[in-house]
Amino acid sequence: MIYQLLRPLLFKADPETVHEWAVKSSNLLAPVLRRLPQVDDPVTVAGIEFPNRVGLAAGFDKNARWVGVAEALGFGHTEIGAVTPRPQPGHPRPRLFRLPEHKAIRNRMGFNNDGLEAIKTRLQSARPRRIRVGVNLGKNADTPLENAAADYQAVMDGLWHCCDYFSLNISSPNTEGLRSLSQVDTLQALLAELKPQRPLFLKLSPDEDLETYRAIAAHAQDWGLAGIVFSNTTARREGPLSQVDSLGGVSGVPLLERNLEVLRKIRWSVPVIGAGGIFCGTDALRYRHAGADLVQLYTGFIYAGPSLPRHIARVLKGAYE
Ligand SMILES: Cc1cc2nc3c(=O)[nH]c(=O)nc-3n(C[C@H](O)[C@H](O)[C@H](O)COP(=O)(O)O)c2cc1C
Repeated sequence: MIYQLLRPLLFKADPETVHEWAVKSSNLLAPVLRRLPQVDDPVTVAGIEFPNRVGLAAGFDKNARWVGVAEALGFGHTEIGAVTPRPQPGHPRPRLFRLPEHKAIRNRMGFNNDGLEAIKTRLQSARPRRIRVGVNLGKNADTPLENAAADYQAVMDGLWHCCDYFSLNISSPNTEGLRSLSQVDTLQALLAELKPQRPLFLKLSPDEDLETYRAIAAHAQDWGLAGIVFSNTTARREGPLSQVDSLGGVSGVPLLERNLEVLRKIRWSVPVIGAGGIFCGTDALRYRHAGADLVQLYTGFIYAGPSLPRHIARVLKGAYE
């Protein structure tokens, strides 16, 4: 309610500045937020026990500064990163844009993050109580694609002891060439090189064709994947998005219907975390009915505010009690 009153004001300022301010100021409120009732709806997915089915999607807490607040707001898991071995600044600002007429966000952040060592220090002191922590694996922009595996492995080697799962990001549209790693042969070779110490999820782009998804789904278990995160942002600019700047990825409502359709059509054979355009309990339920075991929020959380994770966790719990 308060957020709905504040939002017009927040939406007048530069999105990245608001984000940084919100992360800092809400950390001061964490002790108060912790008193809010939590939604207990334990579920085991990929061998990990999650306290409920709602997570914070990658990219919101790139630097592990918000684990305590995410936990206090009722998220059952949070995906840190993308984390790269070395710190990097990402693309120049401005690189984050609201598209309120589409209930969407366009971003071309480019994996700005403090790097593995700084994030390790923060995760070690975060001491999460109930929330599960995932690490979204990135590669440095100046690492050649053929050496991507070494970057992903370095992040896993550095952070495995302070997280519960990894999510291999081959789907950001903001790192040149990254999406070419989704081609089945390339992906197979990449996965064969990796030695994950925690369950490894694969984060997919929403822009592949059904044949690619079918091939990935068919191999997922043999490749040792623990699950799929579907999906990242879209680089497409079709239909209502045709006037939107072509740089970067779009998230939010424009992803919703197509993601649900893909989830319904593919038999994944491994657990699925659904993300893309979840703004309310009904959207989350639709993902569940389409086959998602867990859901993640980013854009809907920005638009609907801090009560959304708890609300969705409650709806998902109620629906399956
Ligand atoms: C500003 C921004 C940064 C993001 N950064 C990452 C990232 O680093 N790694 C990743 O896998 N996904 C990233 N994402 C994608 C989200 O994790 C999520 O998959 C996508 O936004 C779809 O969910 P949504 O419609 O609820 O936002 C980012 C999204 C946004 C809006």
